[in-house]
Amino acid sequence: MQVTAKSATLTSSATVRRFRDQVVVITGSATGIGAATMERFASEGAIVVGLDNNFEGNESTVAAINIEGGTARAIQCDVRSEESQVRAFAQVIKEHQRIDVLVTSAGIYVGSPLTEIPMDRWHDIEAVNLTGVLLSNKLVAPVMVDQESGSIINIASMAAKTSWPYSAEYSATKSGVIGITRSVAMELGPSGVTANAVCPGNTVTAMVKSVAAEIGATMDMTADEWLNMRANDTALKRLAQPWEIAGLIAFLASEDARYITGQSIEVDGGLILS
Ligand SMILES: NC(=O)c1ccc[n+]([C@@H]2O[C@H](COP(=O)([O-])OP(=O)(O)OC[C@H]3O[C@@H](n4cnc5c(N)ncnc54)[C@H](O)[C@@H]3O)[C@@H](O)[C@H]2O)c1
Repeated sequence: MQVTAKSATLTSSATVRRFRDQVVVITGSATGIGAATMERFASEGAIVVGLDNNFEGNESTVAAINIEGGTARAIQCDVRSEESQVRAFAQVIKEHQRIDVLVTSAGIYVGSPLTEIPMDRWHDIEAVNLTGVLLSNKLVAPVMVDQESGSIINIASMAAKTSWPYSAEYSATKSGVIGITRSVAMELGPSGVTANAVCPGNTVTAMVKSVAAEIGATMDMTADEWLNMRANDTALKRLAQPWEIAGLIAFLASEDARYITGQSIEVDGGLILS
């Protein structure tokens, strides 16, 4: 089944403004799931601030939201760098004095057979997917503890819940994201702050297209053949659209989810059932 543009439009034009005037910081906001999450929160009344090292992509996400009447701002940030993240979060606090929601979506995928993993590449994926998430959580924690409220949503992956060949690096970092989330939930819970991880299955973004080309090649398949195979592995027989992941993220930041913390929630179309 194809997801229609109509259903995407209906979702992005949600009329319920659950996050009116809340400050939502999203890393990895330039493209894919992060960009869709920016749009979702902005459509529900939030002030969204996107942190990304892709300057043009980030500016274009923000411009599209502002043209539609939302309130969005882009901050150049390399999540691997402590200095860059400290500067970005300080700027958010200076301008808005609070942070209600943090979504860590910045991430990269690389994959190859175990014996061929170059160690400098391992250090880089670890720096983006794990250090980047740890730093964002660390920097937002004192702000949310002072407010005695806040929601942290870290984007992990189904690669943390299950795995497949040639993905040791990615699986390791995403499993680590779940570990960080559980500990943060325990640590900040007494201050009324929740922390949860979202585990998407294959979602149609630039990342999944490059994954399809890379892993497909190791299996003698084209990118499209690999993506069709992944779609067929799900109960719903299709891949996810980025706004479907954004829907779960927004729910976890909403009042309806105040008693949910420390969880890692699958949004995978039934992939894990196969
Ligand atoms: N697409 C999928 O199938 C899928 C599945 C499971 C999990 N995820 C996770 O979802 C998240 C979003 O992925 P996506 O599919 O939207 O991919 P994407 O490539 O479209 O988005 C990733 C974003 O992260 C940003 N980024 C990368 N390195 C950065 C850095 N050093 N500093 C700041 N920003 C950086 C990129 O510029 C980009 O905007 C990632 O954490 C990814 O691992 C994706």
